[in-house]
Amino acid sequence: MITTHGISSQTAIVLEDRHGAHNYHPLPVVLSRGEGVFVWDPEGKRYYDFLSAYSAVNQGHCHPKIINALKAQADKLTLTSRAFYNDVLGKYEKYITELLGYDKVLPMNTGVEAVETALKLCRKWAYQVKGLPEHQAKIIFVEGNFHGRTLSVISASTDPDSYGGYGPYMPGFQVIPYNDLPALEKALEDPNVAGFLTEPIQGEAGVMVPDDGYLKKAHALCKEKNVLFIADEVQTGLARTGKMLCVDHEGIRPDIVILGKALSGGVLPVSAVLADDEVMLTIKPGEHGSTYGGNPLACEVAIAALEVLIEEELAEHAERLGKRFRERMQMLIDQRPDLLTLVRGKGLLNAVVVNDSPDSKTAWNMCLQLAENGLLAKPTHGNIIRFAPPLVMTDAQLEECCDIIEKTLLAYG
Ligand SMILES: Cc1ncc(COP(=O)(O)O)c(C=O)c1O
Repeated sequence: MITTHGISSQTAIVLEDRHGAHNYHPLPVVLSRGEGVFVWDPEGKRYYDFLSAYSAVNQGHCHPKIINALKAQADKLTLTSRAFYNDVLGKYEKYITELLGYDKVLPMNTGVEAVETALKLCRKWAYQVKGLPEHQAKIIFVEGNFHGRTLSVISASTDPDSYGGYGPYMPGFQVIPYNDLPALEKALEDPNVAGFLTEPIQGEAGVMVPDDGYLKKAHALCKEKNVLFIADEVQTGLARTGKMLCVDHEGIRPDIVILGKALSGGVLPVSAVLADDEVMLTIKPGEHGSTYGGNPLACEVAIAALEVLIEEELAEHAERLGKRFRERMQMLIDQRPDLLTLVRGKGLLNAVVVNDSPDSKTAWNMCLQLAENGLLAKPTHGNIIRFAPPLVMTDAQLEECCDIIEKTLLAYG
């Protein structure tokens, strides 16, 4: 079929397959347009987006305020590098640090770059402030973590798909079980521990929510040992889980916060690391950076993206809709316990666990059926489906989506 761009879904798939690296395994759905909670394929089929580009599109696709900010700044100035000042960066830095309550921000682009930045800050702080002997600083990670794809963070991954075949790995990392306070307490006995890095909820692992109180106690244990508590909020942050930051559910303030994804509402790669001066000022001019980090286009987009979260009260909205979503999914599970095991999550970051083995194809096949019925979701493992729609979804749309999921899964088999 001829579409607006003259490319059919089938052609697009063939082109990607033939000319692109095969490092992804997408659902066979091609998207050519997005607006709010909806995306369309080139043939005009409309879908509800229940992935939101892995929580980057919290504000909804092509949010007019964010797109207008992008267009206005694109006409003026897009990139200067940090060799010079620009007239937007400082304004953005003031805005985000006041909003989130930190002394300073360090702007980067992708999520994993911000994670790398946080790890570097942690090591610098360990040597300059904590006084650890050179090259001895250790950073603790947890099992099932996902922090991106660089060699350094995959060195701490426990997923063979992430780390397999990429050795040798980064030294100075230790991995302990997730949601296990005694394990953390024991690891913290080592005086060379500089930091503890965790996702408040593990998104890629399948929306693994730790026990209530885990993060608060982990934070307290770190404080006792003068160890930096580092929260990777790349996926959980910015209203996704029903609070501005997921750690807000437990009332803790991490020493370092890492943001990405929704910081641009899905428009550009924009990430950030937030910390107070004691940590942030350990990195001196010339010791870290990025050509695109802090560019004026990204800064205007990020201000608009953050303003949308606040003006549209998206955290509160996600909290309320999330409760209803889990209620509806629980009703479905009660009907078909043979098919579905449980629903878990916070706000609009949720997952349904399918009653099958993690290496089965069941979740994938269910997602194909969901797509057929107009709703896009993606398995995180063979038996887990993540449901994370844009936060701008209305109550009525959520009910409609729950009807689609119910109808599809009840008919499955
Ligand atoms: C918790 C977390 N950290 C880091 C990243 C990496 O972000 P990026 O893909 O932008 O590098 C992701 C991406 O999914 C993530 O979920």
